[in-house]
Amino acid sequence: MTASRPLLEKLATTTALAGALIALAALAPVAANAQLTNNAPGAAAAKTDVPADQPWMNTKLSAEARADLILKEMTLAEKLQLTFGYFSTDNKWQITPLKNYVYPKDGRPFSAGFVPGIPRLGIPNQWQSDAGVGVATQTVPKESVTAEFPRGRTALPSGIATAATWSPETAFAGGAMIGNESFLSGFNVQLAGGMNLLREARNGRNFEYGGEDPLLSGVITGNEIKGIQSQNVISTMKHFAFNGQETNRFTMDHQIEDKSARESDLLAFQIANEIGQPGSVMCAYNRVNGFYACENDWLLNQVLKTDWGFKGYVMSDWGATHSTIPAANHGLDQQSGWAFDRSNYFEGALREAVNNGYVSEARANDMAKRILWAMFEVGLFDKPVKGDQSSTIDFVKNGKISQTDAEEAIVLLKNTLGLLPLSKTARSILIVGAHADVGVLSGGGSSQVYPIGGSAVPDEFGKGFPGPKVWYPSSPMKGLQARTAATVSYLDGKDVKAAAAAAKKADVVIVFGEQWTGESIDAPDLNLPNNQDALIAAVAKANKKTVVVLQTGGPVVMPWLAKVGAVVEAWYPGTSGGEAIARVLTGEVNPSGHLPATFPASLDQTPRPVLEGDPKLDQDSHPMGNYNIEGAAIGYKWFDKKGYKPLFAFGHGLSYTTFALSGLTAAPEGKGLKASFSVKNTGAVSGKDVAQIYVSGNGWEAPKRLGAFKKVEVAPGQSQSVSVTVDPRLLATYDSASKTWTVAAGDYKVMLATSATEIVQTVTVRLDAQTLNVKGE
Ligand code: BGC
Repeated sequence: MTASRPLLEKLATTTALAGALIALAALAPVAANAQLTNNAPGAAAAKTDVPADQPWMNTKLSAEARADLILKEMTLAEKLQLTFGYFSTDNKWQITPLKNYVYPKDGRPFSAGFVPGIPRLGIPNQWQSDAGVGVATQTVPKESVTAEFPRGRTALPSGIATAATWSPETAFAGGAMIGNESFLSGFNVQLAGGMNLLREARNGRNFEYGGEDPLLSGVITGNEIKGIQSQNVISTMKHFAFNGQETNRFTMDHQIEDKSARESDLLAFQIANEIGQPGSVMCAYNRVNGFYACENDWLLNQVLKTDWGFKGYVMSDWGATHSTIPAANHGLDQQSGWAFDRSNYFEGALREAVNNGYVSEARANDMAKRILWAMFEVGLFDKPVKGDQSSTIDFVKNGKISQTDAEEAIVLLKNTLGLLPLSKTARSILIVGAHADVGVLSGGGSSQVYPIGGSAVPDEFGKGFPGPKVWYPSSPMKGLQARTAATVSYLDGKDVKAAAAAAKKADVVIVFGEQWTGESIDAPDLNLPNNQDALIAAVAKANKKTVVVLQTGGPVVMPWLAKVGAVVEAWYPGTSGGEAIARVLTGEVNPSGHLPATFPASLDQTPRPVLEGDPKLDQDSHPMGNYNIEGAAIGYKWFDKKGYKPLFAFGHGLSYTTFALSGLTAAPEGKGLKASFSVKNTGAVSGKDVAQIYVSGNGWEAPKRLGAFKKVEVAPGQSQSVSVTVDPRLLATYDSASKTWTVAAGDYKVMLATSATEIVQTVTVRLDAQTLNVKGE
């Protein structure tokens, strides 16, 4: 196992430091407000009151025109200043201090980054915070882990959980919640939008991403980005691209052909870019086809900026810049998080490179303009952050948004004995494991959001980054106690025999299984760690009325599956997760999450049973990875192609009611096609179904692709008519030579389904030949 975010390690742990931290935090708001008053004199100007010397403050002009106007006033040094960012967490918190570290005095403590603005022109500072589930905190002294931490914030369920909602509206609401807390915390750039496709089930960051399918991942993450930016906070979209594993993430060189890339990971980013229009894209640590992602001409200049017409800026991941001239010329616009890189490439050296003509002045202008364009477009000039206003955050409202996300995300995988919802006549419920008496799990690393009140459990990881292992103080057990007349008791499960003995006496047993994953480390395998599989098997043997509730970063295997009555995947359910789990278990909420990723029966079914790379390799190594094995056939597409039967299929998810899907018709519409059908609730309670449309054509990477989906709520006995359209790119193949998407003339199968393996109805549609440009238009 490797825990090597470059040089970042856990911090010192003395009580004196904890005291200093609190004192520092108390000062932060004052410093931040002073900063704003000094730095943004023109920023608050009303539409009708454009200062004569700042014509770019005219909000009637386009972001492009405004960026051009301000650029004219800027010196080269000022333009380049915008391209260089600092890490904003004091070096004293690093176990191994960063060499050359410079603390940006106006940065927000314990945050990811800071780029100084230009007061004379009213260009605001860029205050950058992680990440995709909420406003994160970089590192905290160990004592603060279970204490009230100064930046306690609302955490959404993990990214893969939000993808499991199959609900763009939920993703948008979650994004807007994050944007709101980010803005009120004094940040105007949110390092969110994580969406590397799930090519590797062991990837330690799968929890941050949107699953395995380009359409689902693109739609969900795009909507989250849109939500964040609705709050005048720039969002990134990351990690561009092919950052599919954590092992050797700084050096790995993933090989992938252009065609397969465009039909998979790049298509996901392309869709998210169209929906969310992120102001920034964060390039990844790894190499792709021989070049580092942050100096990869193909990815940055050709695909992103030329083909897709991306107008925003590319920022590097923290420690992902490797040069000055190649990086600048190949598309990187901003070096982030100095001093994680080996050199301050975009500081003096970039200026020299421009002076010497190695980087053109036009390119220097372009770099600055892209940053300014995003700042104007998203509203950073017009609605500037006002320092730390976190005392005005509505945590009750935001907690409900997070809870709704979790309730839409939780997947009922199995319920053969009808154990769920929990019977009202149960007299005793035994809860076992995963600290379910006090909290729910969250994923580790830079995306870590600290909850109000601190972690419910002292750190169990103990090795620094990506720890601490944080448990949100939202207790599933308390949630259940409030909703049942049964006696609810708890055992931690460490003593398997005692747990099995207690299980024998209980009416129902709920075992909580957990798999903690985090940035910089991949899971060793797909089993639940620490003897939990044996615990579940022993408990289920003692009492067949056993329900398993999982909190995992992504897919896991379930050797005990046949022995248990019910299984629920709750992911990392966020700061209101305990409540959400209790509501689903008791039937107050009818589960409606569906898997955004295939759960394999074993690693042997995956494209790389043995993980590529080697954790022992150092940062000067050059390990190769072959994404051409599966190409664009990721997840269910790979399983279809190979004829493998997964443990649980992509798209699978049960409900406490039953649905009948019928009446499928399909016809060409516009450049794509339209499918219509009806969803009937044939059970006794109201519920939400996720209807899925798969399409199938000749010469594709796999037998079928997800073409469209719709989550609908239907009352018992009622039917709802649904129509969805399929994007023509999902009916086409990409041609690299002509940079076009081609729909071949012929018959296409359109399938109505409840998962990738449960097809309910199939019709055939004849499509004419069509050629679309690289944007799919
Ligand atoms: C992560 C990014 C994150 C950045 C800043 C990196 O280690 O890969 O996702 O935004 O740190 O904290």
